[in-house]
Amino acid sequence: MTSPPIFPGGAELFRLGTSVAHLNHGSFGVVPIPVAEAQRRLLDESAADPDAFFLGAPDRIAEARTRIATHLGADPTGSALVANATEAANLALDAIGLGSDDEVLVTDHGYGTVVAAAARRARVVTVPLDPLLPDEDAVRKAVLAGVTPRTRVALLDHISSPTARIVATPTLLADLRERGIITVVDGAHAPGALAEPLAGEPDFWFGNLHKWGYAPPGTALLTVAPRFRDRVPAPVPSWEDERGFPRSVEYRATVDYTGWLAAPEGLDLLDRLGAAAVRRHNSALAAYGAELLARLPGLTPLPYDDRLPMRALRLPPGLARTPEESVALREEIAGRLGFRVLIWPWPGGGGIRVSGQIYNTPEEYERLATALAVLLDGR
Ligand SMILES: Cc1ncc(COP(=O)(O)O)c(C=O)c1O
Repeated sequence: MTSPPIFPGGAELFRLGTSVAHLNHGSFGVVPIPVAEAQRRLLDESAADPDAFFLGAPDRIAEARTRIATHLGADPTGSALVANATEAANLALDAIGLGSDDEVLVTDHGYGTVVAAAARRARVVTVPLDPLLPDEDAVRKAVLAGVTPRTRVALLDHISSPTARIVATPTLLADLRERGIITVVDGAHAPGALAEPLAGEPDFWFGNLHKWGYAPPGTALLTVAPRFRDRVPAPVPSWEDERGFPRSVEYRATVDYTGWLAAPEGLDLLDRLGAAAVRRHNSALAAYGAELLARLPGLTPLPYDDRLPMRALRLPPGLARTPEESVALREEIAGRLGFRVLIWPWPGGGGIRVSGQIYNTPEEYERLATALAVLLDGR
């Protein structure tokens, strides 16, 4: 196995601390210095003349949204900037208007806050997906097997968080649409990670820019099919409320908009670095990490999509069976070994997910594999 090359100048673009190795970009992202500096300039501008800044904010937000949506291949007039995937999921489900008899189909790989948004509004039917299902077609069949006459909405990951599996594909979305089901795609990981992040044509799609799009935290895009646009509620009805979607959703009175306004800088940075080269590098690093971890006794790599910058493996049975156990193991790996990774819980035994990003080096995954072998020995 040859180790992937280091991305030249990659680490210098970030201000990451050195007490741990950050192999978990997928959870929260990391803001690159040029984007943080762009946001700093916006904060300075706001401090120098708040009136001018806030009076001009709605138009600048629209401009930022147009740049971001265009970059992702979404319709700028059918998309709104929102805080994050969790907010987007809540808004999408409110726009649909669910009754307590309606069923929302999710999978057991779905993200906690997003599934909870559905559970607060309707009956959730959870499709179990064995993490080792061999391919997208097996996933598609398992999801369709969960459809009942009462299924109103399918709320599916594009890229699942714990397991880095592709769930929502254009084929599956078309199958669901044929059955009259409203489709909502959680594309939290897609912007920046995939060249074509929109996963077909769902009724609602949302993605975080702060994960793989190098945006400041709190930047996400929600795109909505035409028939639902005037039903998306404003999270905080304010001065733009009369103007309708998307401005009514975006403007929330006097809050800090500098993250959204700086977000296009993240996508510009990705383009300057060469988006295809960054994606190739990130997925090669994640693959390298997963190959090293797969050599440890009891670790089983999950089927993967080799475009993705994250890879997941099952841990030996009996470890990380519950959320509490997974948090304890995650913190032990961070505190004792010095690595940030995602540990995901699963009945019977959970797993580990590693990410690759331009600030990472092959040597970090080599050290992780060596240290984890010692930690897991005898457990
Ligand atoms: C698949 C998925 N959906 C939703 C979220 C939630 O994102 P946020 O905290 O930005 O709302 C995450 C976060 O990791 C995720 O992985």
